[in-house]
Amino acid sequence: MDTHLLKVNAQKPEPEVIAQAAKIIKEGGLVAFPTETVYGLGANGLDSVAVAKIFSAKGRPGDNPLILHVADLKDVFYLASTVPLKAQLLMEAFWPGPLTLVLPSRTVIPREVTAGLDTVAIRMPDHPVALALIKAAKCPLAAPSANRSGYPSPTTTSHVMDDLAGRIEAVLDGGTTGVGLESTVLDLTEVLPTVLRPGGVTREQIAGVIGQVRLDPGLKNSAALPKAPGMKYTHYSPQAEVILLRGEPELVAAKATELLHLNYEKNLKTALLLSSETWPLVNKAKAVYAREMGSHNALGEVAHKLYHELRMCDQVGGQVILVEGYGEEGLGEALMNRLLKSAGYKLINC
Ligand code: TXA
Ligand code: MG
Repeated sequence: MDTHLLKVNAQKPEPEVIAQAAKIIKEGGLVAFPTETVYGLGANGLDSVAVAKIFSAKGRPGDNPLILHVADLKDVFYLASTVPLKAQLLMEAFWPGPLTLVLPSRTVIPREVTAGLDTVAIRMPDHPVALALIKAAKCPLAAPSANRSGYPSPTTTSHVMDDLAGRIEAVLDGGTTGVGLESTVLDLTEVLPTVLRPGGVTREQIAGVIGQVRLDPGLKNSAALPKAPGMKYTHYSPQAEVILLRGEPELVAAKATELLHLNYEKNLKTALLLSSETWPLVNKAKAVYAREMGSHNALGEVAHKLYHELRMCDQVGGQVILVEGYGEEGLGEALMNRLLKSAGYKLINC
């Protein structure tokens, strides 16, 4: 099939473009669309046949449930059987925005969406195009990130096209996404609210509204399985081997320089993704690709660039990517979660 690229104004989406995309959704097709986090691959979330197409287009394992995207708070009550006070406080504080809530599900939701669980993940994205599409399609949109399964999530239309051209009906092209990492997935069906996937809204921000929040022990301890089925799969991985280095800039710079030389001797093409602090301390002449990702004090910038730069390292034929790690406070928790996964949990403390 031909994948139509529909250019759309990200701030003021043209109604006729949105209507074209909504028609595809209503007819059971797939449309990729921008959100404030990453591009999503949307289908009518109440149509099991349409939802099944998402899994085949992405090559996604069937036991990995999808997030339902809504544009109206009322829809949450239609999709979830109970909406606890904590959920309502969080919706008020962070929606629209990068926070997904896991709640007990109602039976209207096809089992393809929930992967047979009795819970459902719901969020309201903070992007005019996403909100306009949901409203025009008149249904919640089931939407995972619009990448081939296992690959880094797409933050531009060209990432979506690289992965899914010919496999989906259309892409709404609204430019580059903002946050660059996926939403935080918060489980409110546990006694203690539990972050199943750290993301755009930090644990500190959530705690500020509802008090105690824990991180799913399965994310830190390889003996326990993470509760979000998606978190157990290899993820966010470029083709190249990712090596994660963390420590004082001088020490990271020394280690990166040493590995760069060693790889050069072995004819291994090496890419560098360094913090602004480490950047000036490394001679990049032997690197196939090198980028300054941003400061340790500006993790938003690093998150915004990360998936694009991982994909770029692959495009230039990098075989090894030396990536600098960051502290785990605030957005650093999500950033390090993704980096550790893409590095197969290997971290070199310099
Ligand atoms: O920012 C985002 O969340 C993006 C944009 C498009 O909204 N979406 C996204 O979806 O990242 P996806 O499918 O790539 O990741 C959803 C995560 C997976 O790890 C999945 O296992 C988890 O949420 N999840 C979905 N429903 C769940 C449920 N009922 N219980 C536990 N985990 C759930
Ligand atoms: Mg994904």
